This record gives sequence, C-alpha cells and structure tokens, in this order.
Amino acid sequence: MRRSMFFSGLGLLTGIGLVIACAMGQGPGGPGGPGPGGPGGPGPGGPGPGGPGGPILGSPYPGLTRSQLALFNAGLAQFLEVENVPGGLGPVFTESSCVKCHANGAPGGSGDRLVTRIGRVVNGQFDPMIAFGGPQIQDRGIGKFNGVNFVGEVVPPQATIVIKRRPIPLFGLGLVDAVQDETLIMLAQQEVLNNPLTAGRVSVSIDPETGLERVDRFGWKLQQPTVFAFAGDAYLNELGVTTPLNPNENCPQGNCALLAADPAPTNPNDLDNSAIEALASFITLLAPPPRGPVGATQQAGSVLFGQIGCTDCHTPALETGPSTIAALSQVTFSPYSDFLLHDMGTLGDGYPQNQAGPTEMRTAPLWGLRFETTFLHDGRAATVNAAILAHDGQAKASRNKFAALKATQQTSVLAFLNSL
Ligand code: HEC
Ligand code: HEC
Repeated sequence: MRRSMFFSGLGLLTGIGLVIACAMGQGPGGPGGPGPGGPGGPGPGGPGPGGPGGPILGSPYPGLTRSQLALFNAGLAQFLEVENVPGGLGPVFTESSCVKCHANGAPGGSGDRLVTRIGRVVNGQFDPMIAFGGPQIQDRGIGKFNGVNFVGEVVPPQATIVIKRRPIPLFGLGLVDAVQDETLIMLAQQEVLNNPLTAGRVSVSIDPETGLERVDRFGWKLQQPTVFAFAGDAYLNELGVTTPLNPNENCPQGNCALLAADPAPTNPNDLDNSAIEALASFITLLAPPPRGPVGATQQAGSVLFGQIGCTDCHTPALETGPSTIAALSQVTFSPYSDFLLHDMGTLGDGYPQNQAGPTEMRTAPLWGLRFETTFLHDGRAATVNAAILAHDGQAKASRNKFAALKATQQTSVLAFLNSL
C-alpha cells in the first residue's frame, strides 16, 4: 500500500534523489547511499557504444518526459517500500519489499536470495501442491494475530520435487515487453530453419489486462506475458499483498481456515491495482544495463560467440514494435536472448510450469551479466565459465565447442560476455 511509503525514511528519499540526479545526466554516479535506497556506486560508467540505455545502471531511459520520469520515481518508491501488516503484508510472504531480492548493482538488479517451489507427481500428473502451501514456499510469517501464530511455510515431506529459483534482473524489461508477438513467433520459425537442433518455441498465456492471448516473455519458465502481470504475481507471492488482479491470499501451508485470523483490514488488501501499475511503470522505464568497454579481445569473443552457436539462442538483437513511450518505440536492443523455451536436459530444473516442460527453460538474457554474482536459474554456477559448461540438451553441442576452444579464445568469449 502506498500509505506506508511516507514512513520509509531517509534511505528512500536518498534513492529517489540519486535516480533523479542520474536522469539529469550528472557525472558518473554519486556515492550510493546506505540501505536499499542507494543505487550503489556504479562501475566505470563510460558511455557505452550505442544502445538505448543511460550510462549508469539503474537509470531511467534518457529523454523521458517529465510525467514519465514522475511515474518512474513513484514506481521506484513502491519498489523500495517496505510493506507492513496493516498494509497487507503476508500472512505468509518471502520478503517485505521488492528490492530485498532485486538489488544487485542498483534497485531492480538480481540478488542471491533464492525462492523455493515444490511439487510432486500423482497418477502421472504434476501436482503443484496447493493444499500443502505450494507451489511457492512463503518461508516467512507475520507472527501472532487474533489467536493464530502465522509462521513461515516449510517444505512438506510429501514434496518430491523441490527446486530453487534465483531473482532475475529487471533492467530493460520495458523493451522486452514492447516486442510484438509476431516478432517472437517469426524468430521461432527462423530458428527451425537455421538449426532445428537448437530451435526454441514460444509459450502463450492470457494477458490479464486484455483477456487476450499474448506470447510470454518473463520468468525462467516463460510463465508470464507482461511486466504488469509479473509485478502483480510478485506482489502477491513474494509480499503477500492482494489486489483486484490477484484477490486471494495464499493459504498458510495450505490451511485456508487460518485466513479467518488475517489481520489485514480489507480484502483485497489494495482496493485498486495502482501499486502494481506503479511497479510496472518503474520496471518499464528502467533502462537496460550500460555496455562495458569493448576492445579487440571483446570483439574477437563476440565473433567466436556466434561461430560456436551461442547466438542460436542468445539472439544478439531484437526490435520493439510501436509504443506510446518514445524510448521504447521501434528500437533495436541487445538482450542476448530469444525469449523462447529450449530443452536444456540436465540443466533444466525438473519443474513443469505454464507451457514449459520439466527440462525446458527460457534462454537467459546475457545483458548486464557482469553485474551478476551467481549464475543459472538456481545460482548453482559461481562463474560464467561454470554456467557455460553446465549447458546440456539442445545447447550441448555449442557447449562442447566452447570447451574445445583454445584457452585464449575462451578468455575472449568470457571478456565479451563480461562487457554486455
Ligand atoms: C524473495 C525474493 C523476491 C522478491 C521479494 C521479489 N522477487 Fe521478483 N523475482 C524473484 C525470483 C526468484 C524471480 C524468478 C522467478 C521465476 O522465474 O521463477 C523473479 C523474477 C521477477 C520478474 C521477471 C523478470 C524477467 O525478466 O523474467 C519480475 C518482473 C519481478 N521479479 C518483479 C518483482 C517485483 C515487482 C517485486 C515486488 C512486488 C518482486 N519481484 C519481489 C525473486 C523475488
Ligand atoms: C539451445 C539454446 C542455448 C544455447 C545454444 C546456449 N545457451 Fe546459454 N542459456 C540457455 C538457457 C535456456 C539458459 C538458462 C539456463 C538455466 O539457468 O536453467 C542459458 C544460460 C546462460 C548463461 C547464464 C546466464 C545467467 O544469468 O545465469 C550464460 C553465461 C550462457 N547461457 C552463455 C552461453 C554461451 C557462452 C553459449 C555458447 C557456448 C550458450 N550460452 C549457448 C540457452 C542456450
């Protein structure tokens, strides 16, 4: 709820100030104040070659209108806001703010806080175990209210599939959202023509805003079609705040009777979707990561990256369709992903979700890789090198080509990846 944002104190104000400063194009980054507010001292910050982003990680797009900038800042405040119990937090939740998990490099980044999903197979059918508190485990509770002690959920012993997911950075997602369905459908067709062995496939969901089908682009399993839909999902499943979009609380450990003691005053907690709209505005207007310095080594690595088949899935450039936001309208950008599902064999997480089978994963975008601290969907890889070597299934041949490169060539590929 917006109410509590007035109590969030100095860290919040510092954060907004710094972002406004960035937007106005002042020098390479202020000191990055303490707490979640500060976008943290940005790195080299040299103006990257081209690309629609600003020079500093966590900035909005350059050249936004005053009202767009106001939306960005209001959305950032919502993203940093710590929810409280009267505002709808819980009764079970994972963290009390978005930024607790999305802070690497700047608010909106990734993080090392993993979330847990559970499931099992009953009569050959996947069961997300809603009656046991699944599919996602909210591992924190708000405590004692109205005679009930709301504790965090635990993995029930009946679960046979227990997996972890790492937060995904949110920089540049407005561009991803602005890609037209047809572009992704055509890309999937093109991949079949280029190389059927590595070709990916689209996933489609109902867009909750329009009620129409839309090609998915978000989540490790392509489980959501829009930034707005994902923000609403996170607001409920991470923070426990219900909205008209997602009006039903998660039943703690599957026990819906406990909700009678839920202390949050209204149902849904937020009477309109304005908080989710604000979150979606912040994410939509958040520029992609700035490109790092590119020299001869990175250029050589870029060529090799194509030659060994990495670009079969990590598509270097995509184009957006028309958008009412000029910064997002018909621009070419470089996410290094095709936003399609691929069968990754043993690298898959074994968890079916939406249209994705157990071993299918969305190609992870590689922009901003240098701001990550762990890699792959569950953070299992400590280095980029380890992440590449873990590729399997449709990416196995490409992985083997990387492994067969000379050491100096591998260094070039890694230097290239580290410049994205
Ligand atoms: C407890 C940690 C946690 C919190 C809190 C959290 N997230 Fe996330 N976020 C994740 C994880 C994990 C994923 C990847 C989920 C998946 O695909 O299964 C993710 C993914 C996302 C994505 C998809 C990005 C992409 O490119 O696919 C969006 C958008 C997002 N989060 C927004 C939010 C918003 C908005 C909030 C606050 C309402 C929030 N998150 C709070 C952990 C968190
Ligand atoms: C068949 C498609 C495909 C090919 C080919 C492919 N990848 Fe990937 N890549 C993926 C998918 C899917 C993921 C996400 C896997 C996961 O975490 O489960 C990924 C993840 C990554 C990651 C980790 C990103 C992160 O944020 O954790 C890196 C780094 C990477 N790939 C580099 C490469 C390189 C280098 C090559 C060429 C040697 C390559 N990939 C070839 C599909 C592919």
